[in-house]
Amino acid sequence: MIKKVASNELIVGMFVHDINASWISHPFLKRQFAITSAIDLEKIKRAGIRSVIIDTKKGLDIVQAVEMSDSPKSKKEDTKKKSKKTSRSIDGELQGAKKLFKEATSVIRNLMEDARSGKKLKAATLEPVAERIVQTVLRNHHALTGISRIKTKDEYTFMHCISVAGLLVSFAKQKGYTDEQCQKLAVGGMIHDIGKTLIPDSILNKPAKLSDDEFKVMKHHISIGQAILEKIPDLDKLSVDVITMHHERMDGSGYPFGLKGAQISEVGRMAAIVDVYDALTSVRCYKEAWEPTQALKKLLEWSPARYDKKLVGEFVRCLGIYPVGSLVQLRSGRIGIVMKAGKDLLKPQVRIVYNAKHAHYEMPRDIDLARTQTEEIQSAAVPAKYQLDVSEFF
Ligand SMILES: [Fe+2]
Repeated sequence: MIKKVASNELIVGMFVHDINASWISHPFLKRQFAITSAIDLEKIKRAGIRSVIIDTKKGLDIVQAVEMSDSPKSKKEDTKKKSKKTSRSIDGELQGAKKLFKEATSVIRNLMEDARSGKKLKAATLEPVAERIVQTVLRNHHALTGISRIKTKDEYTFMHCISVAGLLVSFAKQKGYTDEQCQKLAVGGMIHDIGKTLIPDSILNKPAKLSDDEFKVMKHHISIGQAILEKIPDLDKLSVDVITMHHERMDGSGYPFGLKGAQISEVGRMAAIVDVYDALTSVRCYKEAWEPTQALKKLLEWSPARYDKKLVGEFVRCLGIYPVGSLVQLRSGRIGIVMKAGKDLLKPQVRIVYNAKHAHYEMPRDIDLARTQTEEIQSAAVPAKYQLDVSEFF
């Protein structure tokens, strides 16, 4: 079987059917070869190849790779690695956040399936994941922001829930909420759309704008969610507000209650901002993903009518002028992806991937704009112009 595998998931024994990066001058004589040693793995990594196509008939499959990486020896090595400072590198942080994102998505998928089949739900199953989301955000404020760009169309509903949880925790932390409050918000974010589990797929994943009747059905996801919540004991008010208020709007044009201004709790107003920001910056079955800066501009435009203007301002400051995952053009003409925010909002850490002056792709490499005098951001850039898929780099 032929399948695409992320380079960091490759192990010795796999067979590379194709190097999934025609633009990179890779160091291999052939595009098809067996991975026979750690040196091959290192070469792939150093060449900046993010993913390859493997042939599981000629070599190991990803499942076998997972089994092998779960062996006691690997775990020991993994722990050793974690204790080293290198785990604080951008890639180390991203890999950790990616693992959490995948696992949390799976928890939500299972939970929504349980809700659909009428099984009893327990908030306790969400708490360990919520705690990990808070810890990840505390370690690296923006780790989950970049990762949330890897959403797939099929898994959007579940992945969106995790993104909202991560963004909400970042936002709340910046506003001075306690870790305990952030954890409640993470739980709320994770299940804010749980009512969608009973919305027909034909409406949920319609590859076009919903008709008025379809939109009426879609709006029911809040009341369905409320009914499901009643079966979950001990859910904190902060979590409940995220779920019930994320579609309320400042001018009363939202749903389900048409609440206005201060009738919507602060957490509800924050959830509304985060929810729409994540929806705009995600690829959907009916639209491409918007650039983070474009989405933030739109949120400012829609304030104060729909969104709390003061909170939108704080959210923009929380994400930074150039949010993690956005593309920027540097003074030299190079194009890079913002990988990590810096203390100075104008000087994040950037991964160079393209040279617009000479119109060619570059071997990916990281630079910290706070530590260089020769480069600075000139403007935001659009990935489509350079045929770049930003999610490939997370
Ligand atoms: Fe929703």
